[in-house]
Amino acid sequence: MTLNPFPTQIRHKLVVEDSTCPGDNVSECGLDGETEKIVFGNLFGPIGLIRRLKTTVVLVSNSSQYFEAADHVVVLGEHRVLEQGSWENIKIKTGSIFKFSKSHDFKDNPVLSANFDKLSTQVQVKMETEADLARRTGDPALYAYYFRSVRLSNLLFLIVMPTLYAFFITFSHYWVQLWTEVGGKSTWLYTTGYVFISIMSWSSTCAQMWCLFIRFAPQSGWRLHERLLNIITSAPLSYFSQTENGAILNRFSQDIQFIDNQLPSALQTVVVQILKLVMQVILLCIAQKWLAVSLPACIFVLYVVQKVYLRTSRQLRFLELRSRAGVFSSFLDSIEGLETIRAFGWLETVRRDNAHRLDDAQRPEFLLLCLQRWLNIVLDLLAAVVAASVLGIAVGLRGHVSGGQIGVALNIMLVVNGTLLKLVVSWTNLENSLGAISRLKFLEMTTPSEGDTLSNLDPPANWPPRGQLEIKNISASYQASSLVLKNVNLDVTAGQKLIVCGRTGSGKSTLLSVLLRLLELRSGTVELDGIDIKHVSLDVLRRRCFIAVTQDALLMPNETLRFNLDPDLSTPDDLITHALSKTGLLAHFLTGNTQLSAEAASFVDHPIFDQKLSLFKELSVGQCQLFALCRALVKVISLRASGLKPVILLDEITSSLDTATESTVHSVIDDEFTRNGHTVIIVAHRLGALEAHTKPERDMVVLMADGRVQEVIKDLGPDTFQNLAKIA
Ligand SMILES: Nc1ncnc2c1ncn2[C@@H]1O[C@H](COP(=O)(O)OP(=O)(O)O)[C@@H](O)[C@H]1O
Ligand SMILES: [Mg+2]
Repeated sequence: MTLNPFPTQIRHKLVVEDSTCPGDNVSECGLDGETEKIVFGNLFGPIGLIRRLKTTVVLVSNSSQYFEAADHVVVLGEHRVLEQGSWENIKIKTGSIFKFSKSHDFKDNPVLSANFDKLSTQVQVKMETEADLARRTGDPALYAYYFRSVRLSNLLFLIVMPTLYAFFITFSHYWVQLWTEVGGKSTWLYTTGYVFISIMSWSSTCAQMWCLFIRFAPQSGWRLHERLLNIITSAPLSYFSQTENGAILNRFSQDIQFIDNQLPSALQTVVVQILKLVMQVILLCIAQKWLAVSLPACIFVLYVVQKVYLRTSRQLRFLELRSRAGVFSSFLDSIEGLETIRAFGWLETVRRDNAHRLDDAQRPEFLLLCLQRWLNIVLDLLAAVVAASVLGIAVGLRGHVSGGQIGVALNIMLVVNGTLLKLVVSWTNLENSLGAISRLKFLEMTTPSEGDTLSNLDPPANWPPRGQLEIKNISASYQASSLVLKNVNLDVTAGQKLIVCGRTGSGKSTLLSVLLRLLELRSGTVELDGIDIKHVSLDVLRRRCFIAVTQDALLMPNETLRFNLDPDLSTPDDLITHALSKTGLLAHFLTGNTQLSAEAASFVDHPIFDQKLSLFKELSVGQCQLFALCRALVKVISLRASGLKPVILLDEITSSLDTATESTVHSVIDDEFTRNGHTVIIVAHRLGALEAHTKPERDMVVLMADGRVQEVIKDLGPDTFQNLAKIA
């Protein structure tokens, strides 16, 4: 692509419309018209800051209102330059400039944004581990919480099987002692006995593995995951606005992984090692009674060692996460700011910083290895002291102890420090993994759930029959400190079209959230056809009473077209066809399916409805919006067929549409909703297109400001919208 060379002395503003890259669009960042205009004027206007600095600006936008301020306009399309020149010339040459629409929503570089998500979870993990460090270890309440997630029988299995295993594996040593003491008699009996004991210990190993992996772990994982899912899905909207996405994601990824993989194995290993140790100590004390005296000292040493090891290894884990997050953020910062780094020649510094952080990140790993060596040495020394005592006692009590007893004692000494090592390490793993249980328990205690027990009224099957809405003196807030809606009063008669306008942050979307009870009221009531919506269950309210379409259309590419339009899968094909053709999307789906032959895509069988959405040609942002409207249409038509009159809520659904599509949307609203007597509440920034779609005696405009109703305009005249457009 080549652009005309700019005249050298004149600083240019260049407005480029690129249908695939609208990322820097000023009008997209959710500012209301007035704020947007002020910001634009102050920066790019004739006496704006950028003009005064004589800086060249390349502005990418699809808002034709800005083109006027540019010195040179380049129109892109079909992967090439369509037109360029001064705005005056282009305006005359082409009318196409008004037909701009965005075809893709490349929010940002997807790889980069995925990396940033990853980083934010890394940082989150670090913060959570830090919080977890303060947790008391060996908390019985946590173990109780965890054990409640499995059936008692599985818990018993988890104790009985390792007990059998520990008994048989240790008893074989004692059997050998008995064997040597009889002096070569009954060899056949002892051989059979030994084989039997070995088979039993092998079988009990298998049994405990079966119990752990087939019964215990799946059950606890399943139940805890279900509990977590219930907590999160029933959390109110305020929870999501106050909680980092990374934190929620970590519950489902990191913590569930702990619960599924680490926790059951760690628990089982601890149980097995404890039981084995008990058996070994008993056997040791049978072989050498005097050793029992040293038992308290050994337990004390072991207690201190595990305390030090556990604390240090938890600290090291935290350090490791912190330094890893450092590597991530440094790396991503460098990628994100690559243009700046190159422009200022910081490449070498950044490279050094990256390498430095990578080096740092290795340190905790090294220290952890050192710590493990330390643990090994301490436990070996402990075993050596006990072994020396065994020999000391044997020498001191010569003639009182048999060769077999000393043999068994020394034999056990060889294995006991291995058992100790495993016990301390797995105990540490268990305590670390219990962090996941602790976070889940905390989440359950602190997360409120949406709706309350009051909402169990079962309204009549034909409710709402008309769609009359009475909003009486309502106040609402996201945080306890400030009200977002303040004493709002509105009477919306059935079949009315209510247009809500106001500046960004004036509470328009919040008003709709309150109707859907995504946000509960602080005071006041909302009545729909005479029933206070507070008493109605959330499910009924959202299924039957209010059908909402928001600015961000949610599509599920891996589900079928039918599921995307009608998640209940209850609507007949002809209704879906009607809704699709009404919104002008049918042609897109009929022609855009790359995998269907022409006849298979025939209109009669509607096989297209059962195709995955991802198989069709990608929908543009505008089409996604139409699709969301289409989904609402399907729902409304099927509810209407059962005699209900749901209220339709539309939140800025046209703000990213071009004028032609916007007009289609308003026609659909008129034809399908208003003409059929539905109450429609439209939140809108751009009021121009609405004028042709309102009826003065029927409809009403509400202007909101700072969470209050500033003005209610009932007698709509031709100048109403022009006046409002200046304000909103
Ligand atoms: N999820 C949320 N959590 C906390 N505060 C919010 C949330 N959504 C909106 N707000 C706040 O509520 C006020 C009204 O927002 P909103 O209803 O979205 O305004 P509008 O739709 O008119 O632009 C704003 O001050 C905004 O900061
Ligand atoms: Mg809004």
